[in-house]
Amino acid sequence: MDRVLSGMQSSGKLHLGNLVGALQNWVGLQARYDCYYFIADWHALTTGYNNPAALHDSVMDLLVNYIAAGLDPDKCTIFIQSGILEHAELHLLLSMITPLGWLERVPTYKEKQQELSERDLSTYGFLGYPLLQTADIIMYKAKYVPVGVDQVPHLEISREIARRFNNFYGDVFPEPAALLTQFPKVPGVDGRKMSKSYGNAVYLSDSPKEVEQKIRTMTTDPARVKRTDVGDPDLSPVYQLHKVFSTTEEQAEVVEGCRTAGIGCIDCKKVLIKNVFKVLEPIWAKREELLADPEQLHAIVEKGNEKARKVAQETMQHVRKAMGLW
Ligand code: TRP
Repeated sequence: MDRVLSGMQSSGKLHLGNLVGALQNWVGLQARYDCYYFIADWHALTTGYNNPAALHDSVMDLLVNYIAAGLDPDKCTIFIQSGILEHAELHLLLSMITPLGWLERVPTYKEKQQELSERDLSTYGFLGYPLLQTADIIMYKAKYVPVGVDQVPHLEISREIARRFNNFYGDVFPEPAALLTQFPKVPGVDGRKMSKSYGNAVYLSDSPKEVEQKIRTMTTDPARVKRTDVGDPDLSPVYQLHKVFSTTEEQAEVVEGCRTAGIGCIDCKKVLIKNVFKVLEPIWAKREELLADPEQLHAIVEKGNEKARKVAQETMQHVRKAMGLW
């Protein structure tokens, strides 16, 4: 089986956008590929280096949600980046051959610095973000990396660095390819893209009450003020979420009801709440089970780390030899 690798940076809680955009796709790949899924906690340090408590909470949230959403430790390898020290070694060695200009011209570098202008991101580690990501990927000689379009520049530089390494030291690394998935856009409760930084996200760790409350207070077509006003579903983020979570019949019903004022916004939201609950209920149940049994979680990580470490150790033996190291 071809190998697939992907990860998420642990800098916040997982939300519905992450679930639909990434995690559900990862779950589907388990049957067809030898999948390695990890938590990039060192990457979280590149921007969140001054908040260890938040980092720890986020690692736990990701781990529990990975499994609760359907990553099966018997079918894939789940591990934590900082548990595999070989990633740091490979990152160091790759830093020797990577021209600064390659890192400086990755578009996310300047974009993220601007976006997070309140933090000091003029650090060595932050510039090296895509290099650490390259180490994560090529360590496992992954053929495919399922990611969103935002990560394409990172995959591009990963391929360039793998190529440069092979030119200097012989054929060690295959060039990884992005596995882009079409997924529906998931708006947040205010209509903008769902994102933890906008404060508009529905989290997998939210209680049923919180989820219901967030959806009930969502913005809709701003022109539909009174129950008797007709509305335009295309102007309502609630309808965008229906497109992700509701059946085609339900979608047709709410469109018709909105355009004719046949239903009110609360009626429309009730259907959405029901359908979001349908997706979240099994996740909530599994989360509860996992949170009640920290030893089981621990064992899953230990097993995954051990398996990942074996692969990483083997790769590093080749790398050291190829580079003429001790
Ligand atoms: N940059 C990814 C993110 O946005 C996280 C990540 C780190 C990653 N290393 C990776 C993704 C390797 C895929 C492969 O969260």
